Amino acid sequence: MTLLFPEDWIPQAVKTKLPDGYQIRPLDSNDYNRGFLQVLAVLTTVGEISERRFQEQYEYIKRARDTYYLIVVENDQGRIVGCGTLLVERKFIHTCGLVGHIEDIAIAKSEQGKKLGLRIIDALDGIAKEIGCYKNTLACAEHNQIFYEKCGYKRNSLEMGHYFQGPPSPIRNARI
Ligand code: ACO
Repeated sequence: MTLLFPEDWIPQAVKTKLPDGYQIRPLDSNDYNRGFLQVLAVLTTVGEISERRFQEQYEYIKRARDTYYLIVVENDQGRIVGCGTLLVERKFIHTCGLVGHIEDIAIAKSEQGKKLGLRIIDALDGIAKEIGCYKNTLACAEHNQIFYEKCGYKRNSLEMGHYFQGPPSPIRNARI
């Protein structure tokens, strides 16, 4: 098994604050069977995803180097109970700066309120600093504003979205 990124990019200070028997680590290719998708379902619709489809997506994410940093929290029973993503954008502005986008933060309902969400954000912030991002940004619902403020984030802009009508076209990958 190869990891998405080096495990030691997750700050030790975050690891030591987890409850006994819990660990925080990069997503791995066996997490399909440890409840990763069930945790994501706390956030939104996940849909039917076979293990094969999961593996293909995982391999794609791994090949997209220096871009996707997915982490999970595993509890003392070996089940995934939390997850989060850092997506790194390489810009031309700010002297070819790197911006981190925080996405898909979710904690299993039965594990909420144990500071696992806070640890995931601290870990993703730590990874972003480690790889040279000048900031992390995220969009969230109003009811999560206080949670993110407790993680050190400040409200500073308006987020907008455009949902396209009809089913999406088949996925195309551009290769130049
Ligand atoms: N409103 C107000 N305060 C909150 C909330 C909230 N919704 N959620 C947590 N907090 C507070 C806690 O009380 C705690 O405060 P304290 O330090 O003063 O005790 C602090 O924030 C840290 O809370 P955690 O225990 O780390 O929160 P938890 O592990 O339960 O995770 C999360 C919070 C991720 C929002 C979780 O409730 C969840 O999975 N919700 C459903 C999915 C979701 O909405 N995800 C975020 C989507 S936005 C995105 O992905 C960018």
